[in-house]
Amino acid sequence: MRLNLGIVGFGYWGKNLVRNFNNLDSCDIKYVCEKDFSNAQLCKKLYKKINVVSNYSTLLEDESIDAIVIATPVDTHFTLSKKALNYNKHVLVEKPLTSSYKEALELVSLAENKNKLLMVDHTFLYTGAVIKIKELVEKNKIGEIQYLDSTRINLGLFQHDVNVLWDLAPHDISICNYILDKKLISVQAVGVSHTDNKIENIAYLTLKYENNIIAHFNCSWVSPVKIRQMLIGGTKKMVVYNDMEPTEKIKIYDSGYSHKSKEDISEILVDYRTGDINVPKININEALTLMAEDFINCVNNKSLPVSNALLALEVVAILDAAERSINSNSKEISFN
Ligand SMILES: NC(=O)c1ccc[n+]([C@@H]2O[C@H](COP(=O)([O-])OP(=O)(O)OC[C@H]3O[C@@H](n4cnc5c(N)ncnc54)[C@H](O)[C@@H]3O)[C@@H](O)[C@H]2O)c1
Repeated sequence: MRLNLGIVGFGYWGKNLVRNFNNLDSCDIKYVCEKDFSNAQLCKKLYKKINVVSNYSTLLEDESIDAIVIATPVDTHFTLSKKALNYNKHVLVEKPLTSSYKEALELVSLAENKNKLLMVDHTFLYTGAVIKIKELVEKNKIGEIQYLDSTRINLGLFQHDVNVLWDLAPHDISICNYILDKKLISVQAVGVSHTDNKIENIAYLTLKYENNIIAHFNCSWVSPVKIRQMLIGGTKKMVVYNDMEPTEKIKIYDSGYSHKSKEDISEILVDYRTGDINVPKININEALTLMAEDFINCVNNKSLPVSNALLALEVVAILDAAERSINSNSKEISFN
């Protein structure tokens, strides 16, 4: 079925969503709702056939609208998504799902009760790089994963509603949970604010998973250089995922180590291995197109998207715990 969409927010990311959904044959964007005058004017200029409105109720009350796509600041996600679900619309909302775990749980159960799709745009799950890493893990090419170490820093836009972890870490957490698929044991975070509003602009998040797996994320809005790099260490291979590389985003290092304890267990012998570096070919299609297609297909087929609500709920659970950890002197929050 060809779906009728209403998209809320034509800011930085909303423009990308409108462009992608507008290119699909499987849907029509009937409305864009934008309350900022200049963004609304720009939308009207670029998309003559779309009705640009400033009142959200217009989208909700139009019974021909099947789904609402929400690309507004994080602290508005809960209210806008809840209204859309209550008006029996399917919902695609930007990451993170909400700004608290309590709100996220409420939305997930509302969507279930209403029998509507609630999906979150964790865009990275649709990138060629992450799809390739997932494939490598599933085919046991990397071995048992031991660690993930991610750096996501730049001179970024200070958000007014959420800290740097809520802004940037959803990408890392969604990638990590998606490729690991392991039970989370604990969450610990530390962060600092250098502004009067006390919203942390630098933060470090550490997650522990079963099987002694550790993941560490460094997120910052105040770095002079832009780095988007994730290291994934396995018992067979180590992967460097550099998202700033135009094509060679993934490099697989045949590097590793083996160790054995001597009789005296305070001493161990470690043998290092450094072998070839392999650069696999990855799909370079725009991730947002695949994400948009997944949403439309899953509404039509009543199926589960890659970036489904349960994954999104786990992301918010971790962010919520990270915030509690920061506020309690980096206490380790147990998920056992
Ligand atoms: N998936 C990604 O990679 C990615 C990248 C960037 C941003 N995002 C997410 O996208 C969302 C929006 O971020 P952004 O950077 O585009 O913000 P933005 O401030 O640039 O744009 C938000 C737009 O929403 C409009 N808006 C806000 N409330 C509204 C309402 N009630 N009705 C109508 N219009 C309203 C604002 O006027 C603004 O134009 C956030 O959740 C952010 O986390 C996702």
